[in-house]
Amino acid sequence: MIVVKTPREQDLMRKAGHVVALVFEALEGNIHAGMSTLDVANIAEKVIRDNGAYPTFLGYYDYPGAVCVSVNDELVHGIPSKHRILREGDIVSVDVGATLNGYIGDACRTYLVGIVPENARRLVRITEECFWEGVKHARPGARLGDISHAIQVHAEKNGYSVPREYTGHGVGSKLHEDPYIPNYGEEGTGPVLKEGMTLAIEPMIAEGRPECRTMKDNWTARMKDGKLSSHYENSILITKDGYEVLTMLKEDHHG
Ligand code: MF3
Ligand code: CO
Repeated sequence: MIVVKTPREQDLMRKAGHVVALVFEALEGNIHAGMSTLDVANIAEKVIRDNGAYPTFLGYYDYPGAVCVSVNDELVHGIPSKHRILREGDIVSVDVGATLNGYIGDACRTYLVGIVPENARRLVRITEECFWEGVKHARPGARLGDISHAIQVHAEKNGYSVPREYTGHGVGSKLHEDPYIPNYGEEGTGPVLKEGMTLAIEPMIAEGRPECRTMKDNWTARMKDGKLSSHYENSILITKDGYEVLTMLKEDHHG
């Protein structure tokens, strides 16, 4: 069942999303070679807590980190570690959940560490573009498959693949609500979108083959072929005539 949020709940979703946006503002320009993935997570956790929120992922199915920090061929769910040191040329995705007054914002950015090869920069750029291509279709009356399809087409026409094991999702008072939102699909299929739905749309895109596997830590998902992967996510609200991005500062919003 897809939950439609009341105006009051929509406002709480805006406030939780704003905390996530503040995390990215703090991280932007501050991720450097020599930092550990735990250093990155600690910056994020401090912003979340200083704003009265709780790091949603911490303890979720026993996940041990405050946020997820995934480097290069790690697709998602990298556990922050003081032993994992970022190097010049890495790409690092930081996936952030913040719970404020019972409502959740969930979003992810992939950052460049220093000077990064052109192929990696292109992957990161196209992954973000996939989000915007998908979200263009977000409005009441559209079908969920319209979003999924647009993400898949943009990734594949640029020579990339779409891992199947992880998807976007509804988000609200729970991190994962209906519907699941695959990054692949057919136009004109799936649930009809309605005003008041809140969705986490999250393209996860691979440079090589789409298969991934879970590491021995039981969380980190890594590409089987060892090639790069990138992740970009925002929580959005379906509005009367389109959508509102909840996890970006207004001045960054170019939807
Ligand atoms: N943004 C991710 C998701 O929506 C992060 C979940 S990590 C977990 O699935 F640890 F909380 F599972
Ligand atoms: Co998510």
